[in-house]
Amino acid sequence: MADSLMATYNRLPVTFARGEGAWLWDTDGNRYLDAVSGVAVCGLGHAHPDVAEAICRQSRELLHTSNLYRIAAQERLGDRLTAVAGMDRVFFANSGAEANEAAIKIARLYGHRKGVEVPTILVAENSFHGRTLATLTATGNRKVQAGFEPLVRGFVRAPYGDLESIQRAAETTRELVAVLLEPIQGEGGVNLAPEGYLAAVRALCDQHGWLMMLDEIQTGMGRTGRMFAHQHAGIVPDVMTLAKSLGNGVPIGACLARGAAAEVLGPGTHGSTFGGNPLACAAAESVLEVLSSQGLPARAAKLGADILAGLREALRDVSGVIAVRGLGLMIGVELERDCGELVGRALEQGLLVNVTAGRVIRLLPPLVLSDDQADTLVAQVSALVQAFLAG
Ligand SMILES: Cc1ncc(COP(=O)(O)O)c(C=O)c1O
Repeated sequence: MADSLMATYNRLPVTFARGEGAWLWDTDGNRYLDAVSGVAVCGLGHAHPDVAEAICRQSRELLHTSNLYRIAAQERLGDRLTAVAGMDRVFFANSGAEANEAAIKIARLYGHRKGVEVPTILVAENSFHGRTLATLTATGNRKVQAGFEPLVRGFVRAPYGDLESIQRAAETTRELVAVLLEPIQGEGGVNLAPEGYLAAVRALCDQHGWLMMLDEIQTGMGRTGRMFAHQHAGIVPDVMTLAKSLGNGVPIGACLARGAAAEVLGPGTHGSTFGGNPLACAAAESVLEVLSSQGLPARAAKLGADILAGLREALRDVSGVIAVRGLGLMIGVELERDCGELVGRALEQGLLVNVTAGRVIRLLPPLVLSDDQADTLVAQVSALVQAFLAG
């Protein structure tokens, strides 16, 4: 690897040259089935013609001006995204961490305006919210935080899925102003919220006047079978963050809010040079158009159900498989031992998978996966798991 790059990543020894849908080709011409999608970024697959066209068109007209001026593409995207999400307003950023920073700032201002001196946000164990100082503090993983102390004040933590601990926090932490959760924990190991949990958190937030803030950066944009994962729970958060597949590979993040939360940020309280620039917004607008015109969230639901059923069937009697779980095209296969080496083995067989939380094989294929590709994915993953556990 080039010495010029900081050593922040353990990279696999492969360089991709081009892609199409769920396929990728490396610089030697070898083909791979992509069940990672750039970690839930390329939901529409690689080189989607409509996104490519939108980017080309916008780049010929105008790439960037500034948030000093009105931006037509940002206004169009804002209108469309808030309507789809049932939210009132949106702030555009460039990444997931930045979208969450905006959410954290909204919670703090909201708290201060209510007279709370140290506004505090409740976050979950095993969560992941980003790598900036505030978002790594919110993240429930010591490895992400280690070495970067002092961490940011104003966060308390509860086990994910444990309603009682939130109720207890309400009694012990008088300064709570918001709860920030992932509807399904991604990096934490594809951990689904227990049935009824999100609705109960919603009720607690209403009861105490806390903002319910959902990080849908990994779960959003149709991946779980609904446009946003919280829709499975029949609730609407006060604040929702998006990034990843919102731009299908063009960097864009979004912090959406409704009600009082949507009125918190005013001129001078927040900003971003690039956030919501014409190029990123044109790309995201085309993503929204393709998602809805092709009914891709419903397609993700069907594909995900098929893949889950196929994996459960193939791995049913395999000892060492702890669980096969997921929703839509966010799927985890948890093994009894660490299995990071499976990523390299899969790569040798022309398949991209990810391992998170040490022993959870995470599958995040694009929503445009074909039925044949889904069958191939099930067959390859099952064979890899069986060979690994037998070895
Ligand atoms: C749930 C969640 N939140 C936030 C982030 C951070 O996003 P970014 O890497 O774009 O800053 C991620 C990235 O994996 C994520 O999965």
